[in-house]
Amino acid sequence: MTRMVAVVGSLNLDLTIDVDHLPSPGETVLGSGSRSGYGGKGANQAAAAAALGSQVAMVGRVGDDAVGEELVADLRHRGIDVAHLLRTPGVRSGSATIAVDATRGENLILVDPGANGAVTAADVRVQPVREAAVVVAQLEIPLPAVTAAAAHARGLVLLNPAPARELPRDLVARVDVLVPNQSELALLTAAPTPATVEETATLVRGLGFRGAIVVTLGAAGALVYEPAGDAVLHVPAPTVRVVDTTGAGDCFCGALAVALAAGERLSDAARTAVIAASLSTRAHGARDRLPSAAEVQQLATA
Ligand code: RIB
Repeated sequence: MTRMVAVVGSLNLDLTIDVDHLPSPGETVLGSGSRSGYGGKGANQAAAAAALGSQVAMVGRVGDDAVGEELVADLRHRGIDVAHLLRTPGVRSGSATIAVDATRGENLILVDPGANGAVTAADVRVQPVREAAVVVAQLEIPLPAVTAAAAHARGLVLLNPAPARELPRDLVARVDVLVPNQSELALLTAAPTPATVEETATLVRGLGFRGAIVVTLGAAGALVYEPAGDAVLHVPAPTVRVVDTTGAGDCFCGALAVALAAGERLSDAARTAVIAASLSTRAHGARDRLPSAAEVQQLATA
């Protein structure tokens, strides 16, 4: 088994608008600036893993438009294996519209899946998914493709259930590490979003999931649950000057996958991932300034 990470998932073009508050239903909010950048939870996770020095393969689909070529080229420039990124004729590449309220560190994301919605089970039954030490998936591509990837994998399967939805049993049975945020955990447990670390721990214990669960808590870090021993560990985050939290959860997943692929224990991997995700919030965009392994190491030992 190699230390390779395979990411099965989405690629989007992100249009981001800075706002002083996120809109309520029916409200129009004037922004203070806009920019476009490359995103998609899957591609962000792949980029984060590559920035940390891992060998990474990305599996998914773009449209046969100019944006699709740009999305693939960006990953290629980051050293990611893009041989299993397919083009879907006549379909637009995925896109996202993002409002960022930097003062509160919050965002609101609308996604048009475009070609991401055309990923099939056959697309993901490929060698990198079979041979990776860790396969990472999210839910911006169809569930049959995610389930097929999990079944095809021989290594660890890490699922980021974002955006959250009910998970089929055969997928749940094959997931080793589930990585929701607090609102996704709430949706999976049909409970209100937990307000504290303690409430989060209670929901995690009640989920009845056979594998490990790592809940991202934003500025509060992460919560690690390992079923053996029923242990729950809170990993706090370092204090950083936050510019944009978009993609911080994706950076967390990519970093967690790299650390697990290197054989780290889950609690140590979560510490690394918390630091990486915190550092990723220093710049605008989902992956404009992803941390290197040296930067993570420096903060870990500070
Ligand atoms: O997690 C952030 C990402 O969610 C953005 O890059 C956007 O494309 C959506 O997929």
